[in-house]
Amino acid sequence: MRTHYCGQLGRPDVGTEVAVCGWVARRREHGEHLAFVDLRDHTGVIQCVVDGAHDVRSEQVLRITGVVRLRPEGTANPNLGTGEIEIGDCEVELLAAAEPPPFPVADDVDADESVRLRHRYVDLRRPRMQRNLRIRAAVNSALRSAMEALGFVEVETPLLWTPTPEGAREFAVPSRLQPGSFYVLPQSPQIAKQLLMVSGFDRYFQIARCLRDEDLRADRQFEFTQLDLEASFVTQDDVLGFVSDAVLAAARAVTGESTPPIDRLTWSDAMDRYGTDKPDLRFGMELVELTDLFASTEFKAFRAPCVKGLLVSGAGDWSRSRLDGLVDRAKALGAKGLVWMKAVGGAPELESPITKFLSPAEISGILTATGAAPGDLVLVVADERRVAQTVMGQLRNDLGRPPVGDGPYRYVWIVEFPLFEALDDEGRPVPAHHPFTMPHPDDFDLLDTDPLAVRSQSYDLVLNGWELGSGSIRIHRPDIQERIFRTLGISDEEAAARFGFLLGAFRYGAPPHGGFAVGIDRLVAVLAGEENIREVIAFPKTQSGADPLTGAPKPLATRALADLGIRLAPRT
Ligand code: AMO
Repeated sequence: MRTHYCGQLGRPDVGTEVAVCGWVARRREHGEHLAFVDLRDHTGVIQCVVDGAHDVRSEQVLRITGVVRLRPEGTANPNLGTGEIEIGDCEVELLAAAEPPPFPVADDVDADESVRLRHRYVDLRRPRMQRNLRIRAAVNSALRSAMEALGFVEVETPLLWTPTPEGAREFAVPSRLQPGSFYVLPQSPQIAKQLLMVSGFDRYFQIARCLRDEDLRADRQFEFTQLDLEASFVTQDDVLGFVSDAVLAAARAVTGESTPPIDRLTWSDAMDRYGTDKPDLRFGMELVELTDLFASTEFKAFRAPCVKGLLVSGAGDWSRSRLDGLVDRAKALGAKGLVWMKAVGGAPELESPITKFLSPAEISGILTATGAAPGDLVLVVADERRVAQTVMGQLRNDLGRPPVGDGPYRYVWIVEFPLFEALDDEGRPVPAHHPFTMPHPDDFDLLDTDPLAVRSQSYDLVLNGWELGSGSIRIHRPDIQERIFRTLGISDEEAAARFGFLLGAFRYGAPPHGGFAVGIDRLVAVLAGEENIREVIAFPKTQSGADPLTGAPKPLATRALADLGIRLAPRT
């Protein structure tokens, strides 16, 4: 139907007879009979000069034939790729009528999210959305090529599955043939890929849809996509190498730039220096360790297991109410309090309601440790170590963090996560990753004596403060797995009921193996400069989990429920 795409025409085409197809982006009258019609397809826009275009309306679908010519002198549009030319002597064929769009098809649209999603097919016509989904395609294609080049084989695993222990609530699907029984949609292909290792596939990958019924946020949807991979006879370094190759190849496919090798940080260093396991390394503001300085201070509030400082450059003139706001924020985050101090004077002094309780050595210690200069602000939290770290880490982000998509791209590996993140109400450790993660080889002895100190062979990849992915070396020996289950308080019967098929498989010869999963939605969002992964998903859900386009989720017809053997109970 066409000879060219709209956006691909240019000066070399002058004099050529062409046919283009697309949507009417704009129509402007030009004298009594003529009109300029801007026709848009996914490549861009071309101006067509049409005689008698009274019936032409926004978003109609047209085929326009004519001859490419230079625009008259002084009328070129330097902001448009095709701005030097236009199509003249046009004939217009209406291919489809169109109602006025619910919002303008333009990048700076300010329509409500639910309106955009209800008319997602119009929303996706916007150049920004076209670009985002094409970035996504380029990322998927580069990831797939990189994995294949590394010798990984793509295997599809079931969506109708059984619970996977990734920690989120799961979506269940009722079985018609076995009323009362349910499939569970996979939170990830975790167990399936481990079974594939037992099967000898050696290197598996999948661009896998995962489903988790969790609260939706900027970086979370119910449905999302992972580059999921697993490999046998590998060390942690091997896995980090595979993932680096694939992710950096995908980033290069989008940005055209190569990224230097990704640095590593241990989990405990990340917590100490940045107060989070997903540090944003695009900006400094490292937390300053002040614990030793106050080990025997007279100021009781600072005699704590951990004292952390944070320097906020140039914030020495902040108002009292703004500082009070920071104190409230710190308390809301779980700290007992927050002390602020302003560096003032030539050889700086500290000005603060609590300075009078500090010795001159302590004051100069704070100034030296933080490097505060006149006009700067120093914040201090004294608390349990984890509280002081996380509160200061959050304040660091609040006060310094640029939007996630702003360059440069700063990747970092976080390694040596703890095996357990906390104790539950019954004093049992809770796995930090999932219960198949191999403990650090040096820490086995601590499993019974000090479980929270046990490090694991698990690792995360972080980009600009977002967790991009995680993985681990797995337990492949039934005796170690049983020991971990025992530590977690999972009885033999429960383990057999939940993971019996995996443990059974391990009895038939499981190779040592490990793997990783990259959140593709998050990777694409950062590369596309988007703050919300919704912007890089064709048909996402709203915050409340609805799809305004289809109306999902919807009640099922009584008949359909009956077929599934389901009777709805009144909502409590
Ligand atoms: P994990 O649960 O850490 O690990 O998930 C891996 C990555 O998937 C992405 N992700 C999400 N993206 C969007 N919306 C969500 N709701 C969501 N949940 C997770 C994140 C996350 O880092 N099976 C293990 C991996 C392994 O050990 O191999 C797993 O799924 O980017």
